[in-house]
Amino acid sequence: MTPKDYYNKIANKYDEVYAKPYFQIENDFILAEIRKNCNLAIGKVLDLGCGTGMLLDEQYCADYTGVDISAMMVNLARKKHPHKYFVIDQASEYVRHIAQVGMKYDVILALFGSPSYFRKEYFYALNQIAKPGAYGYLMYYNKTHHDPYIYGMNGSDVERTGITPMEAINLAAQIKGAVTVEGHYIPDGMRKKESYPRFMIKRKLHKANKPGRRLGDSNYITLKIKWD
Ligand SMILES: C[S@@+](CC[C@H](N)C(=O)[O-])C[C@H]1O[C@@H](n2cnc3c(N)ncnc32)[C@H](O)[C@@H]1O
Repeated sequence: MTPKDYYNKIANKYDEVYAKPYFQIENDFILAEIRKNCNLAIGKVLDLGCGTGMLLDEQYCADYTGVDISAMMVNLARKKHPHKYFVIDQASEYVRHIAQVGMKYDVILALFGSPSYFRKEYFYALNQIAKPGAYGYLMYYNKTHHDPYIYGMNGSDVERTGITPMEAINLAAQIKGAVTVEGHYIPDGMRKKESYPRFMIKRKLHKANKPGRRLGDSNYITLKIKWD
């Protein structure tokens, strides 16, 4: 099944699944990282693989563009955020298009596995659409970390590519900026246990993501980019 078909199929259940407390804490954790460097409220934000608009659910962004290949996911995002701008397109196509028209962004995001699905060509054009001093967070699935939740989600056969730590380092070398490759680890069992109290989930998540975590052990590999 293609990612487009897969997300069209699960779109109506997506927000319900990710409304569980565990995922909320996970979102807070990642967004807190991003906010350390980026003023999402006033910057020009591009959200590739935006899904149902999780970023806008959690964060006010005055100047926001969300791009997603799944019309069903985008329809839900539009319903929740009718005044924001969404495009139904391949991330790679859209990035190429805006590079051609010369539009540039302060923040370029692709969160929670989205870039793992994108065509590799989009990567080269990212350098052309980032303003000097812009930040990017590209959060890939880690192919070497076998997480049954990610790779065998509900027994689905969706094509998920993921990258290896070595591929992440090679991709980072193609970016004209300072790139840090960080592992981000979500302990497997926690996602399914709804009975954990919130403070315990937070503690476990922070403990599991202490600086220096080995890339190979992480279920997400995030390219954190600062364009010069
Ligand atoms: C795991 S979801 C993440 C959604 C959102 N970023 C979030 O954090 O809730 C991955 C999203 O990537 C989208 N996607 C998959 N392939 C894509 C492509 N080639 N171009 C744009 N979006 C794509 C899917 O439709 C889906 O909405």
